[in-house]
Amino acid sequence: MTAVARLPWDHVPAPPAAVPGFDVERVRADFPILKQPAHGHQLVYLDNAATAQKPKAVLDAILRYYEHDNANIHRGVHYLSERATQEYETARKVVQGFLHAGRASEIIFVRSTTEAINLVAQTYGRVHVGRGDEVLITAMEHHSNIVPWQLLCEEKEAKLRVAPINDEGELILEEFEALLGSRTKIVAFSHVSNALGTVNPVAQLIRRAHARNIPVLVDGAQAVPHMAVNVEDLDCDFYAFSGHKMYGPTGIGVLYGKTALLDRMPPYQGGGDMISSVSFEKTIYNKLPHKFEAGTPDMAGAVGLRAAIEYVQRLGLDAIAAYEHELLSYATEKVAEIPELRLIGTASQKAAVLSFVMNGVHPHDIGTILDQEGIAVRTGHHCAQPVMQRFGVDATARASIAFYNTKEEIDRLAAGIEKVREVFG
Ligand code: ALA
Repeated sequence: MTAVARLPWDHVPAPPAAVPGFDVERVRADFPILKQPAHGHQLVYLDNAATAQKPKAVLDAILRYYEHDNANIHRGVHYLSERATQEYETARKVVQGFLHAGRASEIIFVRSTTEAINLVAQTYGRVHVGRGDEVLITAMEHHSNIVPWQLLCEEKEAKLRVAPINDEGELILEEFEALLGSRTKIVAFSHVSNALGTVNPVAQLIRRAHARNIPVLVDGAQAVPHMAVNVEDLDCDFYAFSGHKMYGPTGIGVLYGKTALLDRMPPYQGGGDMISSVSFEKTIYNKLPHKFEAGTPDMAGAVGLRAAIEYVQRLGLDAIAAYEHELLSYATEKVAEIPELRLIGTASQKAAVLSFVMNGVHPHDIGTILDQEGIAVRTGHHCAQPVMQRFGVDATARASIAFYNTKEEIDRLAAGIEKVREVFG
């Protein structure tokens, strides 16, 4: 492989222009993993909410990084270290552009959405939440947006309040509003529910919390792969997402935070890069964003995430949203024809997720039969056990779509469900 041309230091790449005309067959050609059989059938991958597949552009970017640029960052004065640092910091700027954040220093690289939420709970939360205070979440949260707050509330003798959802899986706005009180110190909710597909009216929820001066964290793990997000327009205080659900590598995620809040928060972990100076008497912490990035970060992960972002930008997030909406509507109509099937999550605003149960069939059996047909779905509680409890089920089968899925694959899913009916009929 020949050396690639490098950008000048501090260059902020403009997002690539979207290629007009969404062509799913052309898109599928970019994902080598999709072209393989599973149990003698062409693979149908419908487990994208758990982790999405990676286009070749991402795989190539990671390989190129390791073949050409790899060195530890922010430390060496040598050629490779400077180049690796440039790659890492350019990736941060690409994320900044992707989220429309005001400053690159508001982008903290973390391991995942889970780590981002834990970071906020353990830093902002530990400083601002005290005995008798409240943290407000919703009944549709992933465990990652429940347990970190429970840990905090236990430690601080604070209360975790939960805004309920209706039978469609939509947040009940009046109840949410009624739970915002003078003791509420932070509100945290998902942009899109992983178990139900509900798209929350995040801008409206943020406005309601801000009217009471309460900061808001948005779990965007299931949103960024499917729609354009603008954190400045939303005015959220924190926004978290994972690389691997949005066609990037595992092990890299992002926490966006407003400077005014991040600046006042204590560090999360101690170690290299988060310090400005250390003596046994006193450590001075580094400036943002490094204050929150202790230890050698996942440089190749950041490079891969940049490639994933630029890939979806080339497809165009609006084109992705429109295509996936069409696919979800098609899938919803198809499965509605199956009498024994009950959809869990029928919100008017949904993205990418089709969660369902079938009379007399355990979801794991649905998953196993579909798997034998070459169709990958997730079955279980989807790390959202309170959602399962709300709908009176232990588990669901969940098909979750990406822009590389097709109507033919949805037909295969429907035929697979027919097979389940035959076996259990
Ligand atoms: N949060 C991931 C999912 O919904 C793992 O499947």
